[in-house]
Amino acid sequence: MKAHIVLAHPEQKSFNGHLSATSQRILGNQGFQTTLSDLYGMDFDPREGPQHYSSRKDSDVFHVQTEQRFNADNETIPSDVSSEMQRLMDCDLLVVHFPLWWFGMPAILKGWMDRVFVYGRMYRSVMRYDTGICSGKKMIACVTTGASEDNCAHNGREGDTHLHLWPILFPFRYLGFDVLEPQILHGVGGVAFIEGHDDGLSTIETYTNRWIETLDKHSTRPLIKYNADSDFDGAKRLIAGAPVHSPFVRHNPKAVSD
Ligand SMILES: Cc1cc2nc3c(=O)[nH]c(=O)nc-3n(C[C@H](O)[C@H](O)[C@H](O)COP(=O)(O)O)c2cc1C
Repeated sequence: MKAHIVLAHPEQKSFNGHLSATSQRILGNQGFQTTLSDLYGMDFDPREGPQHYSSRKDSDVFHVQTEQRFNADNETIPSDVSSEMQRLMDCDLLVVHFPLWWFGMPAILKGWMDRVFVYGRMYRSVMRYDTGICSGKKMIACVTTGASEDNCAHNGREGDTHLHLWPILFPFRYLGFDVLEPQILHGVGGVAFIEGHDDGLSTIETYTNRWIETLDKHSTRPLIKYNADSDFDGAKRLIAGAPVHSPFVRHNPKAVSD
C-alpha cells in the first residue's frame, strides 16, 4: 500500500509541516510506503504556461488543454509534472496538507492542480467523476485555519469552512478519488495567535493527537457524498428526484416540471 503526501506550506517548521511529518510517520507505522511532495521545498512552479512546453501543437497561441493533451499523447509532459502524476497513479491514499489562505488554498496548491491534473492523461470527457482515473483511491485533506471553530461554523462570521473546502476538494472527485471528510483544525497560528489573545486557540499536542486518531481510523472515515453520474441527464442537469449533495447544485426552483 502506498500513501502520497502533498504539503503546501513555505515552512517545514510550521503546524502544517509538522502535521505532514506526522502523516509520514504514522502511515509508515501502518505499513504504507510513503512519498512526500513538499511543493515549496521542491520549488514547484505553479504557473501553467508556455514556458513549460518545448513541444507544441500550436506554437502561435497557447491553449492549456490543447497543449496538455498534445504533450500527454506524445509523452512530452514536463518532467516535474509527470513525476507528480506518477505519484498520484501509484498511491492508494493521497493526503493533502495546507492552511486556509484567504478562504481558499495556497496558490502553489492550486497551481499544482492546474499543471498536474493534465487533460488527456488525468481526465477527459469519458474519464471523470464515476469513471475517473483515480477511482478506487482515497484522498483526505488536512486543513488548518487561523480563525476559531466558532468563527468557522455554519453560522460563524468567516463562513462555514466545509463550504470553502467544497470547490477545493471537488477536483479530486472529478479525477475519481473517494474523498474522505476533511480534517479541519481551527485556531492555528492566525491573527489571534500573533496578537496574543485567546480566540479558541488550540495546542499542537491536541491537534497532533486528533490527526493521528484520524489517520489510524481513516479506513472507516466517512466519505463526502457526491452525486452519481446517473443523477444527471444528457444535458448534465440534475434529474427529477435525484438527491442533492453539493451546496452548488440545486434543483431548479423555477422549473415547472423536470
Ligand atoms: C495569506 C494568508 C491568508 C490567510 N487567510 C486565512 C483565512 O482565510 N481564514 C483563516 O481562518 N485563516 C487564515 N490565515 C491564517 C492561517 O490559516 C493560519 O496561520 C495557518 O492555518 C496556521 O498554520 P501554519 O502554522 O501551518 O501556517 C491566513 C494566513 C495567511 C498567511
